[in-house]
Amino acid sequence: MHRYVIPIAALLLTSFVRPSLAQVAGEHYQISSAHPVAAIQDTETAAQRDARMSWWREARFGMFIHWGLYSIPAGTWNGKQIPSIGEWIMNNASIPTADYKALASQFNPTAFSAHEIVSLAKSAGMKYIVITAKHHDGFAMFDSKTDPFNIVAATPFHRDPIRELAEECRKQGVKLGFYYSQDQDWTAPGGAAYKTGNHDRPNHHWDTAQDGDFATYLHTKAIPQMKELLGNYGDFPVVIWFDTPTADMAPALAGEIVTLLNQHPNLIWNNRLGGSYKGDTETPEQFIPAQGYPGRDWEACMTMNDTWGFKSYDTNFKSTEMLLRNLIDISSKGGNYLLNIGPDSTGRVPPAEAERLQQVGQWLSVNGEAIYGTRATLFGDEAGSFSATEKDKEGKPKFIPAWNWRSTTTTNRIYIELFTWPKGSFHIEKLPRTVSSAYLLADKTHKPLKLTKTANGIDIALPDHALDPIATVLVLKTT
Ligand code: GLC
Repeated sequence: MHRYVIPIAALLLTSFVRPSLAQVAGEHYQISSAHPVAAIQDTETAAQRDARMSWWREARFGMFIHWGLYSIPAGTWNGKQIPSIGEWIMNNASIPTADYKALASQFNPTAFSAHEIVSLAKSAGMKYIVITAKHHDGFAMFDSKTDPFNIVAATPFHRDPIRELAEECRKQGVKLGFYYSQDQDWTAPGGAAYKTGNHDRPNHHWDTAQDGDFATYLHTKAIPQMKELLGNYGDFPVVIWFDTPTADMAPALAGEIVTLLNQHPNLIWNNRLGGSYKGDTETPEQFIPAQGYPGRDWEACMTMNDTWGFKSYDTNFKSTEMLLRNLIDISSKGGNYLLNIGPDSTGRVPPAEAERLQQVGQWLSVNGEAIYGTRATLFGDEAGSFSATEKDKEGKPKFIPAWNWRSTTTTNRIYIELFTWPKGSFHIEKLPRTVSSAYLLADKTHKPLKLTKTANGIDIALPDHALDPIATVLVLKTT
């Protein structure tokens, strides 16, 4: 289903052989030039790139929002629970276009509050939001003059949640980006569809209403809608999040989109446009790469349960502990964490999601210094190791994460996030810098901890108990 899995796997493989220090030093990444229109990544200098990416690299934690008409069936169609992710229900249940489009007349999410959602992101410690402006179902969650299948024109709600979020984000100092399914569109003639089930009509369509020409779809819907999104919301979007490119997105067609993106030189966009463009960011989905992507910006996107779009019966929520460990693990490998919420058809955020985000935010309000604006670990082996016997799905040695500690760093600090509490003292070998003092971040007095030099490192004396049940941060001041 995910065609970009292959390049990601290839990158992972290259990361096996690299020393972990490469994560810090960075490496030149080859951008393909097999496309006719040069993108900003092809032409900017390294310094320009650093400036463009700087807010994003500092941010470390963002909120993904998958919200659309699919929140109405919420995983059930004609009385049957449809397996897999909720926003794919139209495809997975082979719902005819007319039936799916009819959902719009019922969509009236009066419990939606941009203020509440942005406040939730803020209290979770998230610095940016990326919301589905249009998912694969083709329904625009914004005021679109291009196509009437949108939340303002086709629903009793008549409001533009994207505008409301933009205004609220501006007020609260959170950045806003738009997810836009540029390639798959299951309700527009000519839009692409990934194959699922027994869809064996040309282009994996399951309804003749989907048939048409991809370039025409791009010229009459996707590109005009992207112009609306890029032009109608002031200083937003700061990110365009593309998804699921297919072979239909020939380099020349992708180039037309890039021409539009180039008019917005501060924009950040991901690696899922297609047409040989690598974009700015790698986007590992539902997994954390063993050692990050040395030399590349990256963002792991993940769900809290097993779906992006709301499913009424998916209650398989990850624990706060796991979410926090993921954030720390990702930060220690130099990446960002884009963590999803899936509001229901009334616009309400599921309480189980809001609750976990608040808890992550509480930890960050004490320990955020160890996450925001930090760089990848100076060590590397603490993340785990490759199994000598077990293989992963690609037949490569399986990475077995270790959950004792992680590390992040700034120019004059090394942060050690301790998951398991060592008895008496913490020992570090092969210190890359000289440590002048140490303290626990959650200790407001920053009481110095006793340091003892050993033959191959240092011992840091610790109190008897952790200050936080999930992760206590040890700070080393370094020179
Ligand atoms: C996928 C899915 C999609 C989801 C996305 C998030 O590729 O097609 O439904 O939006 O990943 O990363």
